[in-house]
Amino acid sequence: MKHFNIAVIPGDGIGREVVAEGIKILKAIEKRDSDISYSFTEFPWGCEYYLKHGIMIDEDGIDQLKSFDAIYLGAVGYPGVPDHISLRDLLIRIRREFDQYVNLRPVTLLDPSLTPLKSKSEKDIDFLVIRENSEGEYAGAGDWLYKGKPEEVVLQTGVFSRKGTERIIRYAYEEARRSKRTLTSVSKGNALNYSMVFWDEVFEEVGKEYPDVETYSYLVDAASLYFVAEPERFEVVVTSNLFGDILTDIGAAITGGMGLATGANINPEKEYPSMFEPVHGSAPDIAGKGIANPIAAIWSVSQMLDFFGEEKWGKAVLSTIQAMLKDTEQLTSDMGGSASTSDVGDRFVELLID
Ligand SMILES: NC(=O)c1ccc[n+]([C@@H]2O[C@H](COP(=O)([O-])OP(=O)(O)OC[C@H]3O[C@@H](n4cnc5c(N)ncnc54)[C@H](O)[C@@H]3O)[C@@H](O)[C@H]2O)c1
Repeated sequence: MKHFNIAVIPGDGIGREVVAEGIKILKAIEKRDSDISYSFTEFPWGCEYYLKHGIMIDEDGIDQLKSFDAIYLGAVGYPGVPDHISLRDLLIRIRREFDQYVNLRPVTLLDPSLTPLKSKSEKDIDFLVIRENSEGEYAGAGDWLYKGKPEEVVLQTGVFSRKGTERIIRYAYEEARRSKRTLTSVSKGNALNYSMVFWDEVFEEVGKEYPDVETYSYLVDAASLYFVAEPERFEVVVTSNLFGDILTDIGAAITGGMGLATGANINPEKEYPSMFEPVHGSAPDIAGKGIANPIAAIWSVSQMLDFFGEEKWGKAVLSTIQAMLKDTEQLTSDMGGSASTSDVGDRFVELLID
């Protein structure tokens, strides 16, 4: 019997609604498979907590989370709490403290009706973006000088350490080798003459250890164009924090939008828990109405199961999502249906393919 301890942070707005559906699916799997069991511990952290206590997460919150196998996060952010506080103090803090330096974002088209791209099908759009998640342009380094004066200067420094750059690129090569796919590096060496020249050098250097992996290297502007015009070029993509953040939104746009996009924050060494979350935010405009699409949060569950080594169930969850997408009427309104968030979760459990 394998037992997994999961910390649940539903967070704010629709985060709470969609995470409840993800847990429903995990429980359904537990019921079907006598070899798997979970325990869930819920934490009340988020913006509401901040408004009451002045902190997004308890002082010893990181310590409280340390012993879990995984963290399942809904979304954080709510009007009244500045976004740079809610995101930095909770989400980014967890990613940092737990050295979740790999961000895995699948760009997989599960149904041809979901892409706005003319004449592209599931076989054309099926790749994995591996985004550096711990440093780079989001390192938070910089300065704000002479604030409010005519000579005001703002510096936002990208931080690309050898350790940080090498480990993400190595992770990507390993993934490409393991899955027998090509690897594309996305950078911008022609304009960012330190950081991205360094990135390109490391990509080449590490690549010498992986002669079996076929590689490509694109500038980020060209890559953005290819994401839309020729997504079939990509199989595994590795890129920096900022470029990965932007490119994966294009990835979401070509595969069905934010209601489907998911991301895993991985600490590959398993020294700390990894965190699984839908990419979307707390959507205050629809929160509390019971109409949020839970599929991205359910897809996160599939990534979590893969991470636990339960790939059979990870695949089953994805196949079930694929089957559900065939019947639009039974989906939420953002997908053209009329179902509620919990209807989608219930139907998923009914259909669960194993
Ligand atoms: N990972 C996170 O926790 C995260 C990510 C992004 C934004 N945020 C925060 O969320 C708040 C709102 O941000 P935003 O409006 O820019 O982005 P958002 O993703 O919350 O919403 C953007 C639009 O997409 C819709 N949408 C999003 N998810 C949906 C779903 N599952 N089903 C149906 N419709 C969905 C919303 O209704 C809204 O119209 C902000 O406070 C922001 O900082 C948090």
